Amino acid sequence: MNPLENDTLGRSRHLTCPLSAPATYRSGTPRNQHPAVARWHAHLRDLATAIHEISGLECSNSERLPMIQLYHVYKAYGGEQHALHDVTLTADKGDFLFITGPSGAGKTTLLKLIFCAEQATRGQLLVDGINLQRLKRSGVPYLRRKIGVVFQDFKLLGERTVFANVGLTLEVTGRPRAYIEKKVRQILRLVGLDAKENHLCCRLSGGEQQRVAIARAVAANPIIVLADEPTGNLDDEITLEILELFREINRRGTTVVLATHNRELIGKVPGAKVVILRQGQLVAAGVARQVMAQRSALEISSQGVL
Ligand SMILES: Nc1ncnc2c1ncn2[C@@H]1O[C@H](COP(=O)(O)OP(=O)(O)OP(=O)(O)O)[C@@H](O)[C@H]1O
Ligand SMILES: [Mg+2]
Repeated sequence: MNPLENDTLGRSRHLTCPLSAPATYRSGTPRNQHPAVARWHAHLRDLATAIHEISGLECSNSERLPMIQLYHVYKAYGGEQHALHDVTLTADKGDFLFITGPSGAGKTTLLKLIFCAEQATRGQLLVDGINLQRLKRSGVPYLRRKIGVVFQDFKLLGERTVFANVGLTLEVTGRPRAYIEKKVRQILRLVGLDAKENHLCCRLSGGEQQRVAIARAVAANPIIVLADEPTGNLDDEITLEILELFREINRRGTTVVLATHNRELIGKVPGAKVVILRQGQLVAAGVARQVMAQRSALEISSQGVL
């Protein structure tokens, strides 16, 4: 059987199985299982372990449910230079994953591939088990319903109210008016903007606009939230408040992937993971606090201080 076989939505039946295999697969061979099936399951388990070892990301939860999987992904925008070069990584359900690296490292490109704003040149990408390389154009809106995106420049409708901006996501999914009103107010309470629902977005501060952008991203209950430099233009205090919002969203079970230059931010989320990119290549990955501590030690030692 082809392990990358897909259904019409591009969902891979076999690649999703090994990383989130039912307990029976892991705890030995069920009694009546055909030996060929048992061998196949063993092979899938080995494959899953190898993928996690390659990506360098160890999961703390025993029931891994992969949300985002990249295998040897390359992205070139036309020229010889790769914006991403052989990137392999996994983010599981409930992970808080930072993507960091200097300007031009490929952080935004990585996020764009995940929500299908760009297509990988080579490699495999799966989002919630959907194989993006095989996803038909008609399947893209279905995929995007699973993902909330917070853009660096907010991309809000400045001449519309806070309520309208957040409600728009729900309107396009055809939700009834009463549901939209209840849901938008609930989300605005979460982000602390319930008193400003009738304000025009263009009259809000940068931090408030970022809150609206976050509210809009989570309004339709996505399973993944992607955020590109969400604190890029904010002062320290507001940055911490925005980070706390992402942590709250993550505590509710949503996988959060946050691209940032701000290394201080990365140490502030216990249990978070990090991927460091440089010139399109993954140079380190793992538990954020450990990876960042190792990088700092390396940098100090290379400056001759140690
Ligand atoms: N649309 C595009 N066309 C051509 N090249 C692009 C395009 N978008 C990005 N690139 C190139 O791809 C590389 C990675 O860019 P990307 O925006 O992903 O980096 P980044 O890590 O997000 O940088 P920054 O921190 O400045 O936002 C860069 O060399 C960039 O010039
Ligand atoms: Mg960027």
